[in-house]
Amino acid sequence: MLTVRLPKIGSVAAWRSEARKLAAEGIGAEHVRWTQDSEQDLFASDDAPHGAPVEVRLSKQALFDIESSLYHRDPERFARAYALVLRLGRGEIRWGERADDALRKLLHQRKEVGRDIHKMHAFVRFNEVTEPGANRRAFAAWFEPDNPITEAAAPFFARRFGDMDWVIATPDLTARFIAGQLSFDETGANARLPEDASHELWRTYYANIFNPARLMPEAMRSEMPKKYWKNLPEARLIPDLIRTAPARAAEMHAKMPSIPPAFAAKAVATRAPMPEGVTHETFKQHLDACTRCPIGCRATQAVAGEGPWTAPLMVVGEQPGDAEDLSGQPFVGPAGQLFDTCAAKAGLEREKVYVTNAVKHFKFTPRGKRRIHQRPDAGEVEICSWWLDLERQWVKPRLLLAMGATAALALTGSAKNITARRGTVEATKDGTPVLLTTHPSYLLRLPDQQARVIAEAQFTEDLRAAKAMLA
Ligand code: URA
Repeated sequence: MLTVRLPKIGSVAAWRSEARKLAAEGIGAEHVRWTQDSEQDLFASDDAPHGAPVEVRLSKQALFDIESSLYHRDPERFARAYALVLRLGRGEIRWGERADDALRKLLHQRKEVGRDIHKMHAFVRFNEVTEPGANRRAFAAWFEPDNPITEAAAPFFARRFGDMDWVIATPDLTARFIAGQLSFDETGANARLPEDASHELWRTYYANIFNPARLMPEAMRSEMPKKYWKNLPEARLIPDLIRTAPARAAEMHAKMPSIPPAFAAKAVATRAPMPEGVTHETFKQHLDACTRCPIGCRATQAVAGEGPWTAPLMVVGEQPGDAEDLSGQPFVGPAGQLFDTCAAKAGLEREKVYVTNAVKHFKFTPRGKRRIHQRPDAGEVEICSWWLDLERQWVKPRLLLAMGATAALALTGSAKNITARRGTVEATKDGTPVLLTTHPSYLLRLPDQQARVIAEAQFTEDLRAAKAMLA
């Protein structure tokens, strides 16, 4: 058994170079032990049988997924990634084959790492520690992520706080950004930082940006889980903010200027050419910047599709709803939950499906504190189809599932009644089959319980048919 000892800092780059070397020597995954422990293993040897060299050529997406997964805390991550790289190199699996247990696990861990990085970006709070007379302001923070992600998360802070010096200590590593240079070292014991006056400033800021009209304690708790609260100076404000929210919301509402009428948003909409060179990585950023129709001018953010770029099935809805507009993810609100329930009954695994929308921004009309959904018009669907076509070009699904009239219009060009067409298969202009079904929001709106049970069963049946068509 060959033992490969990876450093604590730079472990991903070290894994990449070791994996490449070992693969070139044809050393099987079962003969390699990956560790980050510095202790010597009495039974370790440096010998392993060589086999046929394996040439590893990974797609950008595969490399990104693999390397991201290596920031997970699972001690098996390096071994799992190496075994997968060998199998990919030998052509035994294809990237995105979620039926493969090891690959599914790696992708799941990559997702957890992504979430953890997102949390770190959102919840690190700096204390000012500038020395008198220093020419750059200096800040320090303590943060406890679930996984050893410090090296992956730190470049974001370097970009955002490039004109300051800062240190972020985590239980594993400490990231330092001094005079424009980012470096890492292992964190010593007890690196906790004292609270100082700048926390007071942060709390004032937080109390000012807190929007009582959007108060969702459950969402706040899940977005800002309690375990992070101890390092968040603003956390102590939360109970009071929640208590006083209804009165403050009423006051805000009374003072609120009216939202500009739709024609004003129309005037802002541009007919700028579509961007060039959009990649998977920059997709969301370009979508966010899109103001080619009035919807894009008013929504909180764009919502890109989600799922494997190699998914055989692409599910297309209408447009993000209120919850999706706030979270940035498709189908996470009530319609998404119903979709998930019916998909599970139909044996369709959501993580194997690419889920997106015909229109990428939320179209609404304000009514009091609520934002009421409005169906996008044909012109808006047409403008947004550029983005949907791009997703289709990337994913190349074997089957499209159009949920509701808007998705059907975007994919088939026909606006005919969807209830009459549900369960039938039509095609896009380029010949991809489109299975038509109702939209889960339509099911949620059905006032009659019995009608809803029947419609839900038909919807589930359509999902089952989609799965069968791909078998
Ligand atoms: N409805 C949609 O059509 N899409 C979503 O993402 C959510 C609700």
